Amino acid sequence: MTDAVTRIGVVIFPGFALLDVAGPMQFFNSLSAIRPFELSIIAKTMHPVSTTPPETIVLDNKHQFIGQAWLPTHTFDNVPDLDIILVPGGFGIRDETIFNETTTFIKEQYPKLKYLLSVCTGSIMVAAAGILDGRKATSNKRAWSLTIKHKTVNWIPKARWVVDGNIWSSSGVAAGMDMTYAFISTIFSPDIANQLANAMEYEPHTNPDWDPFCEIWKVTSQ
Ligand SMILES: *[C@@H]1O[C@H](CO)[C@@H](O)[C@H](O)[C@H]1NC(C)=O
Repeated sequence: MTDAVTRIGVVIFPGFALLDVAGPMQFFNSLSAIRPFELSIIAKTMHPVSTTPPETIVLDNKHQFIGQAWLPTHTFDNVPDLDIILVPGGFGIRDETIFNETTTFIKEQYPKLKYLLSVCTGSIMVAAAGILDGRKATSNKRAWSLTIKHKTVNWIPKARWVVDGNIWSSSGVAAGMDMTYAFISTIFSPDIANQLANAMEYEPHTNPDWDPFCEIWKVTSQ
């Protein structure tokens, strides 16, 4: 199975959270030095996609936001076959058009994938795609009220990350790195995961139940 997992796609949209993508990709970038890997960066169009929240999103302190643009390699309508898709979250998901378009893409792609990974509020779009129905998942604790609107999912309040079948979901932002460490450890090997983490000088949390942010953001139940 390990050898078959070689093609990863990352979905980006205006207002995606940088570390949701960059954290996991630091692992996969390094992994590609020792295993064959192909990366597709997928967006609605081929235009650069900024982490700056789109104009449609009204945030009190929006004028303070800076952002960085990433370059897509493929559009939603033109993706190669993929083994893994990584879905980030971020303020952009609060835009209904972005949310709907990304959700539609996830729904179309999921049956063809070996694994679906979500970070932060990315799992809300995975839920809206209907593929988390009856399954366990988690999301950003600060955005929990938005998360639990999707009542068909068994949302786990206290979790750094959750695995259900071939869907891996992590808690907020930095948690995506711990999920990716665990994913690589499981799908490739613990040795490889450690090699990558050591090269990054990153000490991952390896207990999926470790989650102080559940209390910090006062998330106690659904
Ligand atoms: C997004 O999808 C929902 C649910 O299908 C729909 O009610 C809503 O009108 C859509 N919004 C936009 C902007 O497309």
